[in-house]
Amino acid sequence: MLITLEGIEGSGKSTQMKRIAAHLKSQGRRCVLTREPGDTAIGKKIRAILLDPENGALTSLSELFLYAADRAQHLGERVIPSLAAGDIVVSDRFFDATTAYQGYARGLDLGVIEKIHDMVLKGLRPDLTLLLDLPPERGLRRALSAIEAGDRTVSESRFEQEALVFHEKVRQGYLALAAGEPDRFVVIDATASVDEVTDEILATIDARLTRK
Ligand code: TMP
Repeated sequence: MLITLEGIEGSGKSTQMKRIAAHLKSQGRRCVLTREPGDTAIGKKIRAILLDPENGALTSLSELFLYAADRAQHLGERVIPSLAAGDIVVSDRFFDATTAYQGYARGLDLGVIEKIHDMVLKGLRPDLTLLLDLPPERGLRRALSAIEAGDRTVSESRFEQEALVFHEKVRQGYLALAAGEPDRFVVIDATASVDEVTDEILATIDARLTRK
């Protein structure tokens, strides 16, 4: 089973990832936590290029191909072998992030993005995608405080430095994707408390595991 978490910066995905892992392990299930970009050794190098605020010269198209390269590596090295071994794979971001960020927010052609996804994913789709939704003003405030607190480095802040309007487009992109695939997506109100968000996520995952 492949579960993905999506949302704008500061939506609380990392905290929830740890809680999901603890919950699944307490049920005796094998689970693998992973993320995009940067889960593999090669992906870490790609991540450093993508998130470095000094790389303002990166064109939207090179950005798209770098995310696709990271994803191809991630799938080949981690996701597909783990699914084949019967593990539950939980990924902090996956291909919907490219549609939301490079498609809806950067304005790249959604048809081109879909073709790249056909090539990279070969039909693989998450069984469940949890979209942690909140207004970008709130998410960015949280994300910037994480940088100030030293929980995230400035060298990874290229997207945090984008204007609010960019993040609003990302949010609307995600919501459009969720509306188009209501069976795969569950939209979670990420303005609720961390514990309430966890409760909703775990109840959703448990319900899906029972249904499978
Ligand atoms: P994160 O690891 O903190 O979520 O940072 C990853 C950043 O990369 C985040 O700003 C979203 C962005 N991103 C894209 O623009 N496209 C993608 O396909 C992915 C996976 C992430």
